[in-house]
Amino acid sequence: MGSDGQVAVVTGGAVGIGYAIGRRLANAGYDIAIADRDEMQARQAAREIRGLGRRTTVVVGDVGDRAQAFGMMQAAARDLGEVDLLVNNAGIAGLGPLVSFPEADWRELFRVNVDGVFFCCQAVLTPMMARRRGNIVNISSWNGKLGAPNFGAYSATKAAVISLTQALAREVASHGIRVNAVCPGIVSGTPMRKVVERQGQAFGLPPSAERAKTIPLGRLATPEDIANMVVFLASDEAAYMTGQAVNVTGGLWLH
Ligand SMILES: NC(=O)c1ccc[n+]([C@@H]2O[C@H](COP(=O)([O-])OP(=O)(O)OC[C@H]3O[C@@H](n4cnc5c(N)ncnc54)[C@H](O)[C@@H]3O)[C@@H](O)[C@H]2O)c1
Repeated sequence: MGSDGQVAVVTGGAVGIGYAIGRRLANAGYDIAIADRDEMQARQAAREIRGLGRRTTVVVGDVGDRAQAFGMMQAAARDLGEVDLLVNNAGIAGLGPLVSFPEADWRELFRVNVDGVFFCCQAVLTPMMARRRGNIVNISSWNGKLGAPNFGAYSATKAAVISLTQALAREVASHGIRVNAVCPGIVSGTPMRKVVERQGQAFGLPPSAERAKTIPLGRLATPEDIANMVVFLASDEAAYMTGQAVNVTGGLWLH
């Protein structure tokens, strides 16, 4: 089946990796719903994606709030038609040693990065199961496979995303639904990268440009590198893949 006219929802699709995913999916023939809490950026992204000749809609809300997550998924289906593909990309970062990590920051990371994925999946699964088709791609991180100092809280949320991906994949496979995750390495040029860079300085972490020298392929990832994997996992070429957490790290992490 081609992807022409299929409906994809991209959470956090207003900027960064999510924006690149929306563009790449639009080029592959999907109509795109951008689900983001930043309405202005989301509308700007939707305008640009519409320029590629696909239908778009913007649904505004906070993925970590159950009612808002369900509301966004329902609004996307109302505007564009039943959701064929959900990309759970919205996420936040927060660095610091676990020993002194503030409880509020810990809870916020889990609320957005884990609850957000859980609620959005729940919202699309019932209609997907009724139609006996659907596809979910969750954006985790290489940090979900390797806990690193100062990334402990973030790593724990991204490990939870991998675990949720595996369990859900096996739970819904017989309903014709595939669920996979992408684990990006260090991705340049996104607002989150700037936050991590700034916070990392305070903990003596080398700048990303320095870290690029330790990456076998010799450069940081681009948002498009990640988007390409999402499009592949969503396609019929990945028809025999489910429950996977695929590294896109330039060789930085191999397991
Ligand atoms: N940048 C990296 O190096 C990197 C590496 C590995 C994984 N990731 C993951 O990739 C994803 C995207 O990263 P990015 O660098 O593009 O991030 P970003 O901060 O640049 O963009 C995130 C987008 O998500 C939206 N968002 C955040 N919280 C939200 C919420 N509660 N509800 C709705 N929308 C919300 C923001 O408004 C924004 O549009 C994240 O899940 C991140 O953890 C990023």
